[in-house]
Amino acid sequence: MEKRLQIGILGLGVVGTGVVEILAKERQKIKQRTGVELVITKALIREAEDKSGLATAHGLKLVYDVKEITEDDEIDVVVEVMGKIHPAKEFVTAALSENKHVVTANKDLLAQHGTELFQIAEKHHVSLYYEASVAGGIPILRTLANSFIADEITEVLGIINGTTNYMLTQMVENGMAYEDALKRAQELGFAESDPTNDVDGIDAAYKTVILTRFAYGTDIALEDFVVRGIRGIEIADIELAKAIGYEVKLIGMTKKVGDGVFAEVAPALVPVHHPLAAIRNEFNGVFVRSTGIGQSMYFGPGAGSLPTATSVVTDLAVIAENQADNKPAPQFIQYKAEKQFADPKAVSSRYFIAMKTIDDAQLWREIEQAAVDLGVSYEDIENTMAADGKRRIVWLTEELNEVQKHQFVSAVSKIEETKITQIMKVMEE
Ligand code: HSE
Repeated sequence: MEKRLQIGILGLGVVGTGVVEILAKERQKIKQRTGVELVITKALIREAEDKSGLATAHGLKLVYDVKEITEDDEIDVVVEVMGKIHPAKEFVTAALSENKHVVTANKDLLAQHGTELFQIAEKHHVSLYYEASVAGGIPILRTLANSFIADEITEVLGIINGTTNYMLTQMVENGMAYEDALKRAQELGFAESDPTNDVDGIDAAYKTVILTRFAYGTDIALEDFVVRGIRGIEIADIELAKAIGYEVKLIGMTKKVGDGVFAEVAPALVPVHHPLAAIRNEFNGVFVRSTGIGQSMYFGPGAGSLPTATSVVTDLAVIAENQADNKPAPQFIQYKAEKQFADPKAVSSRYFIAMKTIDDAQLWREIEQAAVDLGVSYEDIENTMAADGKRRIVWLTEELNEVQKHQFVSAVSKIEETKITQIMKVMEE
């Protein structure tokens, strides 16, 4: 007998509309490959929305109460593409508890409440898939989960926020002002509904939590690591970095140091010859170091309706495949490791440190003395009078460990009229 999976979709915004359209386009191909027909029967929207054109074109019943989907016995899979935590969490919980598979693109939800939701999915023998939550159109999660099974991942780092990469590209290449670049990213549909999450690194941090889960089987929380975005980034720093052979990129990274994990989201100096340096605009790139493969990189669009929706539909096709094989709903990733953090003294990097102080030789000597006291070696790459009448000093340091770095930042913050305006890791080739 022909198999059919009925789907209810929560949200018909940019991604939801893409899911409806891509599924209609690829339905035959998925059916040929899996023997299962995927059909969206109902869509949850808000009363104020008018989606009647899309509904008529695709034979969808529009509903305004989630129970019409979560309590519909005919529906096998719920696709959540509303975003944000509430009420998405309650809706996903209800769907899983009603024994429905769930596919979502919601990184906020999966980063913050993943563990709880996986337990509910497991208890009800259904799958919870979220390939679209990290790096939009790049199939990175399934790659980490499946294709590295015979390998040991030691580091995952990448450009995983399309909005900020778009902004940095436009600011550097087209001289666009920060605010204009952000506005354009919003118009293009890359930015979050609250773009603070993009520019302050929070969106990249959610994705770093999920990448850590897939790389090491460990769940970390946002509070466990440093998260800094690109707000207030100075063109002078980006240009100076370029002059010495680096592109400034917002990097989300998670690495194994000894048995512990070290994660961070912050702007960093990427050598111009590194493949991540070439990633422009809203594109994302995820660079993986592992003991077997060595270095590999995955590149593609990190945001936008069609790429994100395509990843959602791929998750649906995998559920169809499992169904066709009569497999007991497999989970996306199996957990194994306890949370353990790297020793901060074992984590080191070179740094680009930009400082501002007043034009007073005594104060510069105090900065230099702080460096000597903490064993910080550096090259002075800029020492100029800035337009605001302050002295701008920029150093490129030798390797500092996390403890030394924090101590240096704290020592400089105690020097009067002096502050560190930017501190960025210098990535190696
Ligand atoms: N705001 C996100 C970004 C959307 O710019 O990458 C995709 O997660």
